[in-house]
Amino acid sequence: MESASKQKFYFGAATSSHQVEGNNHNDWSEWEEKNAVGLAREAEAKRKDPTFAKITLELVDHHNYVSGAACDHYHRFREDFDMAKSLGHNAHRFSIEWSRIEPKKGEFNEEAIGHYREVIKALKERGLEPFVTLYHWTVPLWFRDEGGWLSRRSPAHFERYVQKIAESYKDLGVKFWITLNEPEVYASHAYLKGEWPPQKRSLLRYITVTCYLARAHKKAYRVIKKYMSSAEVGIAKNNIYFEAVWWNPVAWLLKLFADYFWNYYFLNRIMRYQDFIGLNYYFHNRISWWFGRNKNKSVTDIGWEIYPEGLYYVLRGLRWYRQPIYITENGLADRDDEKRARFLQDHIAVARKAMNDGVDVRGYLHWSLIDNFEWSKGFAPRFGLIAIDYKTLERHIRPSALEYKKIIEEGLKKDSGVL
Ligand code: FCB
Repeated sequence: MESASKQKFYFGAATSSHQVEGNNHNDWSEWEEKNAVGLAREAEAKRKDPTFAKITLELVDHHNYVSGAACDHYHRFREDFDMAKSLGHNAHRFSIEWSRIEPKKGEFNEEAIGHYREVIKALKERGLEPFVTLYHWTVPLWFRDEGGWLSRRSPAHFERYVQKIAESYKDLGVKFWITLNEPEVYASHAYLKGEWPPQKRSLLRYITVTCYLARAHKKAYRVIKKYMSSAEVGIAKNNIYFEAVWWNPVAWLLKLFADYFWNYYFLNRIMRYQDFIGLNYYFHNRISWWFGRNKNKSVTDIGWEIYPEGLYYVLRGLRWYRQPIYITENGLADRDDEKRARFLQDHIAVARKAMNDGVDVRGYLHWSLIDNFEWSKGFAPRFGLIAIDYKTLERHIRPSALEYKKIIEEGLKKDSGVL
């Protein structure tokens, strides 16, 4: 569909290499092996929490925490893309696994390069516009051993990898490149909370990693533009709707602080090095005297609040950058598919409202196309439009995916107003 502004609107879904491919050998896969038993033990506390009732049995099983063969998407990508196409999608976001491309420092694996070539071609053949992510939180072991994102040389290492990718795929006509997925989410989980590999807690490390990630992005931006001048380059940014209770000035101060540091700081740093903003929206935080969860609200299987209105404010907050916005992730863990259809309708309606109010939204990519490995929560949370039976690896389309298909068809039929 061509919108009023003659822009094609993209509807689709997203995945990331480590979460779906299977048999990766990177910093996460090693960390999982070491931490699976501990994570299952920690989850014991969730046995009593009704929020997690649907998935507690899986959460307390240590096998849940090892990505292993995952969804075997590495071999089944064609089948998965066929399904995406049958569901009406016209775009798909996926990530290239750096540890496959450059398993040893400076040595590139041609077979892996050939593989992602096929992935891109398979998408194009099916009319799915590729949104290619270059770093979605996993790194090669040699990179980790050299200090990971804490190393002064990390931006240069990333640049070398991106250069190889840009050189190898420049003839494929990929338009959308996402250098980094949610840099601040990764940095905060790994270096502030100390929950994710390499679990090195310190504010100074957090700041250092954030700086190097910003530098890495800028380098990657330049390299991609050098090889593909018409490419559009951005990051996928996780923004949160911070809502201050109206009566409390402290809450407003906290909101200003959080908006600045969480939502805008990284985007400001890379402002002149992005052609679009990729937005990942999941969270709403209600602040009164401190940051807090909104009680008694509808939540997902992992306790995340469902709050479509927040997407509106987050989108409006990004208007200031005057750049096209693609919603590069938005979704929920909902094993029984009870809330997903409504979730999709409500979030897309909110995106439409933001567009009517002048926000330049040009795409919606649901997280996720298929169930997958949800990092330190393992396989238990089910985010897929398509369910995976992990014993047989069979795929089953969830009913909500068909609802999404209807929304897409209606959206693409209209010749103005985009959605
Ligand atoms: C996002 C991540 C994505 C997935 C979803 C649920 O923050 O980018 O990989 O884990 O959350």
